[in-house]
Order: sequence, then structure tokens, then C-alpha cells
Amino acid sequence: MVFIAIEGIDGSGKTTQTARLAEMLRKDGFDALTTKEHTDGIIGREIQKVLEHKEKVDALTLQIMFVADRSDHMYRYADIIKDRNRFLITDRYLYSTIAYGTAAGVSNKYLVELNSIFPIPDKLFIILIDPIIAMKRIDRDRNRSSRELFEKEEFLKEVQANYRKFKNATFIDGEMPADEITQIMYKAALMEFRRKS
Ligand SMILES: Nc1ncnc2c1ncn2[C@@H]1O[C@H](COP(=O)(O)OP(=O)(O)O)[C@@H](O)[C@H]1O
Ligand SMILES: [Mg+2]
Repeated sequence: MVFIAIEGIDGSGKTTQTARLAEMLRKDGFDALTTKEHTDGIIGREIQKVLEHKEKVDALTLQIMFVADRSDHMYRYADIIKDRNRFLITDRYLYSTIAYGTAAGVSNKYLVELNSIFPIPDKLFIILIDPIIAMKRIDRDRNRSSRELFEKEEFLKEVQANYRKFKNATFIDGEMPADEITQIMYKAALMEFRRKS
């Protein structure tokens, strides 16, 4: 399997690209699955409550919840990950925990350590974007005026600075047209598939 993670701040275009990339691969006859974090599983649903301000926990607890959710996620996908002829594309992964958690004041070393047990993706894409543009996109999409927990320009600037530090990433300019971004990802995904098979 080719395991692809798509990362970036809120509004950078992750969900859009996850769907577009999978669709493009399927058109070529590949078996492409998509998934996301946080999940809609038992822990993921609790995370959603915190993000929507319905429940409150401290920064460390929330990041540990994201890690627990990831453990549940990877457990559920364990068989799929072994399947050689597939693509699995995840909309957010462990890099979110490290980038957001560190920005929220949790020990970076601890977050890296906690996440060291999870499979490393074959390809990591990080979409970069001006946080002001990202927030404008989010506000435009929402029919409610309230923002989720992390959706603040200043905070997202810091998150993005953390994202830039990942050495194994392919960074993509999120302000390019969506189809150009998909093309870049598609070419890199195919290259990875050929390299592995
Ligand atoms: N490359 C792009 N250029 C312009 N708008 C985009 C682009 N990619 C996504 N969008 C729009 O921006 C908004 C946020 O995209 P989304 O994929 O939901 O981001 P994320 O999942 O990273 O929060 C959506 O309205 C989407 O249609
Ligand atoms: Mg999204």
C-alpha cells in the first residue's frame, strides 16, 4: 500500500485534495481509500465536542485524546495498510498533533515520542497557505459565525511554522488552483507507487 498523509492548517485545502487525489487515482484504475483524523470513532467524537466548545479539557489532555484516536484509527486500518495494491490517503495525521500541540504549549519532545509508534506515511504533503486566506475560506464556508477551537490567525501562523519544520514533507503552495495541486500530488503518488512495486 501507498500511505499518503495530507496536512496543513484549517482551510488549507486538505479535505478538497484528499477527495480529488483519490478520485484521480480511481480513474486510473487504482484502489484508493480515503480516511481522516480526527475519526468519527469513540475518541474522535469526544474530540469533536472539545473543538466545538461543548466540552473543555486542557491542552495536554486534548493532544493525548488525538493520539488515542490515532491508535484506534490505525488499529482499524491495520489490514488495509498491509494490502500492497492500494492507496490510503488520510486527511490529517500525526503531524497535526505535533504542529498544533506544540503551538498549544505541549512539550514537542513528548508529542514526538508519543507519535513514534505509528506508521510513517510513504508520502507526506503539507499544504502551506497564508492563515488570513485560510480563515477567509473557512468563514465563507460556514453558515455559523462561531469558530472552532484552533481557528485563529495568530495561532495558525504558529502551527504552520511548526509544519515547516518536518524534514520528510513535500510542501505545496495552497494558494495555487486546486487542480494544479492535485496534479502535483498525483504525480508524486504514482512515483511512490512505482518505487514500491
Ligand atoms: N486551491 C484552492 N484554491 C481556492 N480555494 C480552495 C482551494 N482548495 C480548497 N479551497 C476551498 O477552501 C475551503 C477549505 O478547503 P478544505 O479542503 O475544506 O480545507 P481543510 O480541509 O484543509 O480545512 C473550501 O471552501 C474549498 O473549496
Ligand atoms: Mg477539512
